Amino acid sequence: MLSRDRLGCVWTAKIVLLFSLSSLSFIAVNHAQLDNHGFISIDCGYTESPKYTDDKTGITYVADLGFTDAGLIHPVYPENMQPDLAARYNNIRYFPNGTRNCYTIRSLTPGAKYLVRAIFGYGNYDTLNKLPIFDLYLGVNYWTTVRIVNSSTAYISETISVSPANYMQVCLVNKGSGTPFIAGLDLRFLQPNLYPNSTETQSLVLLSFFRTTVSFGSNRYHFGTDLRHIRFPDDRYDRIWQRYEEVPTWTIVPDAISGNVTNAPNDTYDAPSAVMRSVSTLVNSSTMDLYWNLDGSMSVDFNDKYFVVLYFAEVETLQQNEFRQFDVLLDNTTLANGFRPEQMTTTVLTGTVQGSGSHSISLVPDLNSKPPLISGMEIFLVRPLNESATDSGDATAMMTIQTKFSVKRNWAGDPCSPIAFAWVGLNCSYTPSAPSRITALYMSSSGLIGEIDPSFGQLTLLQHLDLSHNNLTGPIPDFLGQLPSLSFLDLSSNNLRGSIPNNLLQRSQIGVLTLRVDNNPNLCTNHNCDPIRNPRKRKAILIAEIMAPVAGAIIIVAVVLLIIWHKTKKRQGGARASNPFESRRFKYKELRVITDDFKNIIGKGGFGFVYSGKLEDGTPVAVKMRSQTSSQGNTEFLAEARHLAKAHHKNLVTLIGYCKDRKHLGLVYEYMGGGNLENWLKGKEGCHAEFNLTWLQRLKIALDSAYGLEYLHKSCSPPLIHRDVKTQNILLTSNLEAKIADFGLTRAFSSETKTHTTTRPAGTLGYLDPEYYNTSHLSEKSDVFSFGVVLLVLITGRPAIITVNNTERTNLAHWVRGRLSEGDIENVTDPRIKGNFDVNSLWTVAELALRCTEQAGKDRPTMSEVAEGLRESLQLETLSHSKRSGSIGTNGSALTETESVGALESEQIEETLPR
Ligand SMILES: *[C@@H]1O[C@H](CO)[C@@H](O)[C@H](O)[C@H]1NC(C)=O
Ligand SMILES: *[C@@H]1O[C@H](CO)[C@@H](O)[C@H](O)[C@H]1NC(C)=O
Ligand SMILES: *[C@@H]1O[C@H](CO)[C@@H](O)[C@H](O)[C@H]1NC(C)=O
Repeated sequence: MLSRDRLGCVWTAKIVLLFSLSSLSFIAVNHAQLDNHGFISIDCGYTESPKYTDDKTGITYVADLGFTDAGLIHPVYPENMQPDLAARYNNIRYFPNGTRNCYTIRSLTPGAKYLVRAIFGYGNYDTLNKLPIFDLYLGVNYWTTVRIVNSSTAYISETISVSPANYMQVCLVNKGSGTPFIAGLDLRFLQPNLYPNSTETQSLVLLSFFRTTVSFGSNRYHFGTDLRHIRFPDDRYDRIWQRYEEVPTWTIVPDAISGNVTNAPNDTYDAPSAVMRSVSTLVNSSTMDLYWNLDGSMSVDFNDKYFVVLYFAEVETLQQNEFRQFDVLLDNTTLANGFRPEQMTTTVLTGTVQGSGSHSISLVPDLNSKPPLISGMEIFLVRPLNESATDSGDATAMMTIQTKFSVKRNWAGDPCSPIAFAWVGLNCSYTPSAPSRITALYMSSSGLIGEIDPSFGQLTLLQHLDLSHNNLTGPIPDFLGQLPSLSFLDLSSNNLRGSIPNNLLQRSQIGVLTLRVDNNPNLCTNHNCDPIRNPRKRKAILIAEIMAPVAGAIIIVAVVLLIIWHKTKKRQGGARASNPFESRRFKYKELRVITDDFKNIIGKGGFGFVYSGKLEDGTPVAVKMRSQTSSQGNTEFLAEARHLAKAHHKNLVTLIGYCKDRKHLGLVYEYMGGGNLENWLKGKEGCHAEFNLTWLQRLKIALDSAYGLEYLHKSCSPPLIHRDVKTQNILLTSNLEAKIADFGLTRAFSSETKTHTTTRPAGTLGYLDPEYYNTSHLSEKSDVFSFGVVLLVLITGRPAIITVNNTERTNLAHWVRGRLSEGDIENVTDPRIKGNFDVNSLWTVAELALRCTEQAGKDRPTMSEVAEGLRESLQLETLSHSKRSGSIGTNGSALTETESVGALESEQIEETLPR
């Protein structure tokens, strides 16, 4: 009774000690899957119970369900294997399907160091008697090749590696030489200071080859009396130390001193005392040699590097006249000279050698020294970790998607890497030395059932997402609309309900997103849906839609201005010159507040996204952030655009401020609530019919724009040519005041010659001056030509390039000229303004437009003359319009569509006249 109780006490104390030790050592580490020693021990193919405890080691083994969902299991009969193997070898999991199959161990600590061990025993389980050869990968990096040479032998592969993410994957890759299989998998948490040669860029793979009289290939040896393996609990990390091979001239050092061998304070290998106390030496004092040699079972190559760790401690009491002193050589390199092992304290010597062939370790005693001794040895292969894995956020999201929807594809291991094993159904972007990112995901007809998982929203660089032809239910989530790069989303043929989130709808309507939602019977896709039922809201959405593409254009100018400003400021020594950049400097943090954390994307330009926002005082602004991936304009362009910094006019878009905060570059400019002119004239599918512009409004816009261009041509020194005048680059305020934007192609030209030869005519098809195109001679008359086309677009409501029939396209100027020569203006007039214009006013502008679009620049008017002509036309129209407005009221039925604008329009008539 008494003794049993006492035994119980001792055990309890030991367990408590183990617990407190481990909780101390792993204090900052969260390991949901690790046990309290920092271990995961998996018995692959074991199914009898969730776990069991090995009586010899006290280690608890868990079944492999939950670590992999691939493969089949099979028993291995112990009589077919070497004797005395652990129960783990009695069953295996094998992978007859797929090239790469993986185990995933989760809840690890990114950047933490682990010993990972995989064990294999073939035992002819499949009765094919075909010894398999396959590859092992740790995550995306090659680990080793498993070569089963003997059916009954146990094989162990081990590596010490830093985990790049919060999960680790061990993958078996079929090389076409037999079916990969595995008997067990271990993970052991190591203190971060251990094995400093295992880093984020290289791991240490324990060299595997069989010496005579050893049980396992792993080259981690003790040199004691005992033939047993030393492992947990003697080694707290459960490293397996096997007895080095028998050497006839060697003997064992009598351990005359009791007690433990301790580690030095700066030790980084934490050798267990059980290993250090068992020491080999020679019978007679001479050189002690250890060696290793390549054999066919290893997959090593000429460039491989070996990292050798040697452990020493003096465990004998030496007499007064005795000493033990020797040199330690690794091939021809001296690791230590006149080395004396410290009494009962571990000394570790390490070295690296390169190359195939044989290598040796020699312990050479000094004259009169006692024979050299050694306590432990490990030999590792140094493996570079040079493959970049998929971004861990993307990979985690994909694994969640796979699990949640029980995806039946052979998705295993890292989604993007190595390229040869990338998952089917996704596209990745590969950048050297950066994580791969998932850019497209094709999951059409994949049997997906349930709601769209938030994990899709975590694939933050996704451009293309196809979830069509599944059984997805629930609402379309908002987070899809927050994926900044998404340009294609197919949700058709599912069972989604509710309405389409505004952010998706907006992005679809401004043309940055192709959205397919058809064949979802419960999805509300028309304008009666809740979020857009309210006409006010709808108007806001519409304005945002129209606004967006424009904003991008403005930015280019603004970026240029900003850069110029910086240069100018430097040169002027900070003098406050009259430039537009006396404007405010924003911090990135402020921009986040202003834009409500970049919530509403209103446009996309070459430089990145444009977001809507509000300054502290409520002023609406458009905020353009330069994306990390965009490249800036070339220096030549920057130099020419320098002059723009001086351009200020109420009909040119204004920059309010900028942000240059670390790597963030952003610009804040006035919010052009009316969007761009092109969108107003396009009248998409008739659904924006109530926002049609009247002829009066069009004229006013034309005049504003003419003022903007006239200013560029006449008031800037040197004069500026815009070069890309078109309806898309004319932005409108919510009061329909027009401003010229996008000076991206603008050039300054010499005031002496008033012409400029450029290398390559630039501009937009349909608006491009033919004379400039043919001769490359640029003058302000090129802008006049383009502006003439803008006038024609305003008159006709047609695009600058007209499709005549299937094969023939012509430019608008040519088309209108032909029709007008027949004297019929009604024939070319935009049907949306029919019956609501003064015919003289319209003719004045049409004639002006034809003069502007003359072939020869000298025959075209100047912008000042154009502005003058438009002013006259506007006067005619305004007078006639106020006369007509009486009759408009009586003709209510025809005008229901334009009601909401009617009010706006009449308010503006007053402001129109005095100019
Ligand atoms: C050790 O030295 C002794 C005496 O010199 C010699 O008799 C013996 O054979 C040596 N043993 C070995 C193993 O070399
Ligand atoms: C990584 O290194 C190995 C061995 O040096 C080499 O074979 C492999 O091509 C490298 N991979 C990459 C992606 O650089
Ligand atoms: C994805 O990759 C395939 C094959 O290279 C290509 O055809 C397809 O266009 C890619 N998809 C996207 C959205 O880039």
